[in-house]
Amino acid sequence: MARAYNFSAGPAVLPLEVLQDAQKDLVDYKGCGMSVMEMSHRGKDYDAIHQEAIATFKELCGLGDDWSVCFIQGGASMQFAMIPMNFLGKGEVADYGKQGTWSNKALKEGQKVAALRGATVNVAADCQKDIPTRMPIEWKWTDGAQFCHICSNETIAGAELKEFPKTTGPLICDMSSDILSCERDYNKFDMFYAGAQKNLGPSGMAVVAIKKELAAKGDDKIPTMLQYRTYVDENSLFNTPPTWGIYIFGETMKWVKKMGKEKLFALNAEKAKKIYDVIDGSEFWTGTAVPEFRSNMNVTWRIKGGDEELEKRFIDDAKKLGMSSLKGHRSVGGLRASIYNAFPMEGVDALVSFMKDFEKKNG
Ligand SMILES: Cc1ncc(COP(=O)(O)O)c(C=O)c1O
Repeated sequence: MARAYNFSAGPAVLPLEVLQDAQKDLVDYKGCGMSVMEMSHRGKDYDAIHQEAIATFKELCGLGDDWSVCFIQGGASMQFAMIPMNFLGKGEVADYGKQGTWSNKALKEGQKVAALRGATVNVAADCQKDIPTRMPIEWKWTDGAQFCHICSNETIAGAELKEFPKTTGPLICDMSSDILSCERDYNKFDMFYAGAQKNLGPSGMAVVAIKKELAAKGDDKIPTMLQYRTYVDENSLFNTPPTWGIYIFGETMKWVKKMGKEKLFALNAEKAKKIYDVIDGSEFWTGTAVPEFRSNMNVTWRIKGGDEELEKRFIDDAKKLGMSSLKGHRSVGGLRASIYNAFPMEGVDALVSFMKDFEKKNG
């Protein structure tokens, strides 16, 4: 078996154990005589998978009965639209952080809904650039805001919020690329969500944690499938949910629980430090994000002076050694190593040793 060291930003590497167990169960899930993909979402076998996935995630995040965990198709991008559609009405205001590509996309959806409904969107902090090198330090919240939307980790920039702001309105956070990657008090939020394809499972759905009280305040005039209330009231079973994705999500959460959060979080910090140490150790490399905002999930950097030809050679040579997807996002270029929870330490060691070697030959 040849597994690549997959540095992709998403869909990203999943735990090997989870993939192997899924493979074992693929044709006949635990004696059911069929795969999870083929069983009814109303049957007891699937029900057990669904309930356990939610319970494990809630336990890992420390969420109580006042929270609901929903599986919503359309990825994190659908959340950008659903949030204002549910919570932003005529004459109301919502606050948004403008922190980089992803939070800017969320903001644009907020502005569209605001224009349709005669509402206002306030930019609470503006990093100015689409690809910032840092996260905001100062925020200007609006009294009475319906919600305050931020992003904890800008995947393309490789910049992460290390401390969360205190807001006046309900705090909603896009955690697509750093959920469950470090110690975090999830009860500080009123809603948080993540496209599953990085730290949680396969692509195509978002895992949305929302306080039941907030969900109940959503607009009940919009189509049923767009209301959070529907997912909360029907336990994400109003329609046929993405059962396979939920199953892999549940297995991935069990893998996190088995490893232990403390150990996982320490490994994540160690993996990132190893790469940042090489970047800081020589003028051949330049880190993209300023040190205090460096992401532990998406390490972004350049070869001196942004030498694109040399970067291309770096990416191509790494690929030959079994390290894939080290190219920065197409909008920025440069180099990016996405090292999510399931990314193995050996892969980081291979990258670090290749970087040193590459510098010796080309520096
Ligand atoms: C921080 C962040 N938010 C949102 C998205 C969009 O996710 P999706 O493709 O699931 O809509 C991404 C995708 O990479 C992301 O990194």
